[in-house]
Amino acid sequence: MDEPTFLTDTRAGYNTIAIPYDEMFGAETDTKPLTRAMFNAFAEIVAENGPVIEVGSGPGRVTAYLDGLGLDIRGIDLSPEMVALARRNFPKLRFEEGTMTALDLADGTLAGLVAWYSIIHVPPALLPEVFAEFRRVLAPGGHLLLGFQVGDEAMHRTEAFGLTFSLVFQRLMPERIEELLAEAGFVVDARLVRQPDEGEKVAQAHLLAHKPA
Ligand SMILES: C[S@@+](CC[C@H](N)C(=O)[O-])C[C@H]1O[C@@H](n2cnc3c(N)ncnc32)[C@H](O)[C@@H]1O
Repeated sequence: MDEPTFLTDTRAGYNTIAIPYDEMFGAETDTKPLTRAMFNAFAEIVAENGPVIEVGSGPGRVTAYLDGLGLDIRGIDLSPEMVALARRNFPKLRFEEGTMTALDLADGTLAGLVAWYSIIHVPPALLPEVFAEFRRVLAPGGHLLLGFQVGDEAMHRTEAFGLTFSLVFQRLMPERIEELLAEAGFVVDARLVRQPDEGEKVAQAHLLAHKPA
């Protein structure tokens, strides 16, 4: 079956910007205490329950942070350049190519799944399918952590870091994502919406949910 265009385009875009993206955002976890609070809570809840994946792991910083908190975590990313970079950045960790739209995992096998600023690249009409896929791979009682920019616009970037590329990403309303999660069979446990930091244009949302046992 032919791959949907949005996957091909997103892969190409991140292949182009992988290295400067990492230089700009690689240390972000160190500077955002509210984000760390959500990661820390997620790690505490999921700890020792089983394997965890980060889908859309990019340069690997979030996977590495959660690994440092003791999770059995690996990263999956659409972009082979991002996967190569993450492996170089964190040679002891596991990163593989793949797509969150069709995870190469058996049903009910994960204790946790993190999608940190990666569902933003899925067309909103396809989010129900992606959340169904997340629910499929999580074990009963497994937890989901999402991060995204707040809003309702589709953005199209064609230039950054002195490079030309094409990347579409979506700002998302937390209330709508919560509705879609509920429709997919998740229970939403917490929502954190923080005001934009320096360098950010809009508020940022972090959602924690679980698949009922
Ligand atoms: C904004 S970056 C975030 C990277 C990382 N989570 C972080 O916070 O540093 C989005 C990443 O998601 C990946 N991605 C986008 N769509 C994806 C998909 N369908 N499946 C897996 N990864 C995807 C991109 O290749 C990119 O590396």
